[in-house]
Amino acid sequence: MTDTVKELVSKCLQARDMAYCPYSRFPVGAAILTADGAIITGCNVENASYGLTVCAERTAIQRAVVEGHRQFTAIAVTCDIKDRFVGPCGACRQVLMEFGSDWTVYLTKPDGSYKQTSLSELLPLAFSPAHLTKN
Ligand code: THU
Repeated sequence: MTDTVKELVSKCLQARDMAYCPYSRFPVGAAILTADGAIITGCNVENASYGLTVCAERTAIQRAVVEGHRQFTAIAVTCDIKDRFVGPCGACRQVLMEFGSDWTVYLTKPDGSYKQTSLSELLPLAFSPAHLTKN
């Protein structure tokens, strides 16, 4: 594990501990690595009007964009499930795809072990901003 991946994994675990999830009691943490080496984290933020809940991955993306980042290389995501690697939901996969298909994704267990995959693997044949350009 490189030091950068180690830090990304550790930051997603820390972010999970900040989750606001009184309804599902299912904390999720995410940490995004930007092209210039910054790490921006997110956790899920639930709402009494359940549909307004925002996933950890999208919280992280929105924080990153407002901080001026638009180029990303990797994301680590984690939840409390110990016995298997869990991927981001479909909506979050699409939101990541907005910023390119070239993401490395680290599906992280609570003990810090991870499975490395990619956004293209998680969302094949995706709809992307390129499809909106007229030809
Ligand atoms: N959740 C995430 O934060 N990310 C995902 O990719 C899947 C689900 C959150 C939403 C909700 O607060 C809780 O997990 C249970 O669905």
